Amino acid sequence: MSRLLVTGAAGFIGANFVRYWLQQHPNDHIVVVDSLTYAGNPHNLDGLLDKSCLLERVDINNTDRVMELLREHQLNTVVHFAAESHVDRSIEGPDVFIEANVLGTHSLLKAARQVWQVEAQALDAHRFHHVSTDEVYGTLSAEDPAFTEKTPYAPNSPYSASKASSDFLVRAYHHTYGLNVTTSNCSNNYGPYHFPEKLIPLTIINILHGKGLPIYGDGKNIRDWLYVEDHARGIELVLQKGQIGETYNIGGVNEWANIDIVNLLCELMDKRFAANISLHTNYPDCPAAKGQACSTLIEYVTDRAGHDFRYAIDTTFIREELGYEPAVTFEVGIERTVDWYLNNERWWQSVLDGSYRKA
Ligand code: NAD
Ligand code: DAU
Repeated sequence: MSRLLVTGAAGFIGANFVRYWLQQHPNDHIVVVDSLTYAGNPHNLDGLLDKSCLLERVDINNTDRVMELLREHQLNTVVHFAAESHVDRSIEGPDVFIEANVLGTHSLLKAARQVWQVEAQALDAHRFHHVSTDEVYGTLSAEDPAFTEKTPYAPNSPYSASKASSDFLVRAYHHTYGLNVTTSNCSNNYGPYHFPEKLIPLTIINILHGKGLPIYGDGKNIRDWLYVEDHARGIELVLQKGQIGETYNIGGVNEWANIDIVNLLCELMDKRFAANISLHTNYPDCPAAKGQACSTLIEYVTDRAGHDFRYAIDTTFIREELGYEPAVTFEVGIERTVDWYLNNERWWQSVLDGSYRKA
């Protein structure tokens, strides 16, 4: 039985991870540490919180409180998701990215080292798993081979630079102090509870409201999309079978240009409106309710500053070492995601009107 401290699990991926983990390991004990920034929503954990899965509203920079939680609950595993995660926000205001992603990760590492290595006198059975991103590797051209674990770091945005810094701190705590660490660098996730500032949920919700679909630049930038539960499955494998000190890339081998993703979402929504008349009543501003194609909402807008052209993950290492394969195809995952947003309007309305922050 594991006893996990999961940081940032009121956010998108962390919440999906906890949901997945408790399905697979129902007897485990989890303490979620989340400061509930704008991206943290306790409702993401609805149905999960009880005496063996607690949510503590704590900033990861509060080293003392994190140490207390590690001791009090005898936690032996950290799975570290907490971060500022949106590239556009990092361009507008980088400071909080340094505080959360760099200083926050260092604070957690210090807490784990103090409790597991100093006070517990070299507790063997501990693990610090750090969740990172493919963006640390920089950008690819259309012809470049995909990122491997050996690709040199070349972060281009304040967000990716802060994540790269945190990766290096995790590495240093292993090499210098012998902390049992693993790191995973994952490609773009999509699925339930994805905050509607990111491309896929923003597109789905704007279509329903008949609002413009902003495409940065020419829309040809490429991302490698992975269903969020497959990310959780990859982290589970790394925790169970990964080598201490190792880094694993996780990806969907599923590259899409942004404009193609947006057109696909428009087509999926056209079909749902054609099949379900009640959607016309619920969303009268959607073009599909007026007999028009949803793609008429597409608007090309000013490009993101320093916009990385392409990300793609080479999954050979995690596949060969740990037997990892994504289980959810993109065709299934994207339909599931569209339907989740259609069936969970209460969730995203409370995000749009801000009431989720009073939860
Ligand atoms: P998110 O923005 O949805 O959630 C982040 C969570 O961290 C929120 O609940 C927020 O309240 C919390 N948080 C932020 N600062 C904190 C602090 N100082 N102390 C405690 N909690 C804090 O992010 P996400 O998309 O779920 O990403 C989770 C992790 O996965 C991040 O580390 C991100 O870099 C990484 N990642 C994300 C993707 C992706 O496609 N979204 C892909 C690869 C890696
Ligand atoms: O690659 C992993 C990364 O994926 C994670 O580390 C980040 O935390 C996560 O936010 C995500 O970053 P991206 O910048 O790739 O995701 P985003 O959804 O913001 O944008 C996806 C692509 O779509 C990107 O090329 C920018 C573009 N875009 C985005 C928005 C929000 C648009 O064209 N229009 C938009 O309105």
